[in-house]
Amino acid sequence: MIQLSLLKLLADGAFHSGESLGKTLRISRTAVWKQLKQCEDLGIELYSVRGRGYRIPGGLDLLNEADIRAALNDDLLSSLGSINIDLVTDSTNQRALDLCQKGGAQGALFLAEQQTAGRGRRGRQWISPFSRSLYFSLVWSFSSGVAALEGLSLLVGLALLKALQRLGVSDLALKWPNDLLHGEKKLAGILLEMSGDLSGDCQVVIGVGVNVSIPAPLAEGIDQPWIDLETILGKSVERNLLMAEVLNQLVPMLISFSESGFKPWVAEWQSYHYYHNKRVKLSTGAHVVEGVCIGVAENGGIVLQNDSGTQVLQGGEISLRGLKGA
Ligand code: BTN
Repeated sequence: MIQLSLLKLLADGAFHSGESLGKTLRISRTAVWKQLKQCEDLGIELYSVRGRGYRIPGGLDLLNEADIRAALNDDLLSSLGSINIDLVTDSTNQRALDLCQKGGAQGALFLAEQQTAGRGRRGRQWISPFSRSLYFSLVWSFSSGVAALEGLSLLVGLALLKALQRLGVSDLALKWPNDLLHGEKKLAGILLEMSGDLSGDCQVVIGVGVNVSIPAPLAEGIDQPWIDLETILGKSVERNLLMAEVLNQLVPMLISFSESGFKPWVAEWQSYHYYHNKRVKLSTGAHVVEGVCIGVAENGGIVLQNDSGTQVLQGGEISLRGLKGA
C-alpha cells in the first residue's frame, strides 16, 4: 500500500528522484518504485523522466488535520471530537459506525481520500476517486432520540449549501430530501445512518460527499447528471478549507437542532427547494404519489397538494419526470 509520507513528498508537483525519496523515507529505491506503481491503482497521474525522477503533474491537495483545525471557528473546537483521515477506506460512514459500536464517539470526524465501497442513498454506490472529492462522516449524539431524522437530513443539506455559498458558489438548490444541486446537476449527497436507540440515546452518522474535481473518465459509474466545484468556480478548491467551512456551518446548526428541531429552518430550506411549487412525482417503493410540492414539514416530510388534499409524505424520491405542467 502506498504510504502517506511518500504522497506528501510528491504533493508539491515537483520532480523527486527515486534516490532522494528513498533517502528521506529511509526505504530502498525498489521499495519506492513498488509504492509508486500503486499510484496508477489510485488513479493518480505520475510522470517519470529518466535522470529527473517522478512528479505528480499539478501536485496533490491532500487532506490534513492541522489545516482543517486552523480554519475552524474558535467556538467549534470544544464541540468537535477526533479527526481521523484515511488514505483509502471502504466507507467513512462504516468507519464512523464501527466507532459508534464501541461508544464515545460524539463529534468524531472521519475523512478519506478514497472510498472503495462508498455508500449512497437507496442502496446506491457513491463513486469516490482518490483526492478528487470530499468524503466525510461526522458522528453526532442525541440523548432523547431523533424524532425527526428526516428533518435532520434536510438541515444538513442546508448547512452544506450555506458553506458553499460562503466559498463563492451561487445558483445552488436543494432537492428533497437532501441532494445539493447546481442548476439541475448533483453537486453533493448526504447519507444519514443510525446507531443506538432511535427513541433514546442514539448516534447519527452524517455522511457527506461533495464533488470537487472529478475528471470525466473517473466518473463513468455516476448514474445521474453531476457537476463538480472546480467546473462551477473555474478554479481549484482547497478541500481542507472546504471541510472546515462545512463544519463551521453544520456544527452550530446541529446544536440548534438538538434544542429546537428543524422548525426554525423550514422557511429557509423551502426558499432553496428546486421543486417548490412544481408538479412532482414521489416514488416510495411500489407507491407513486403525484402533486404540487407546496413545502416541507417540521418533521422533514414533503408536503404535496393534489385532488385528495394536502399530504405530508416521508421517504422516497421525487422527480418531475413524465408530468404535464411540471
Ligand atoms: C447520496 O446518495 O446522495 C448520498 C451520498 C453520500 C456519500 C457519502 S461520501 C462519505 C460518506 N461515506 C459513505 O459511504 N457515504 C457517505
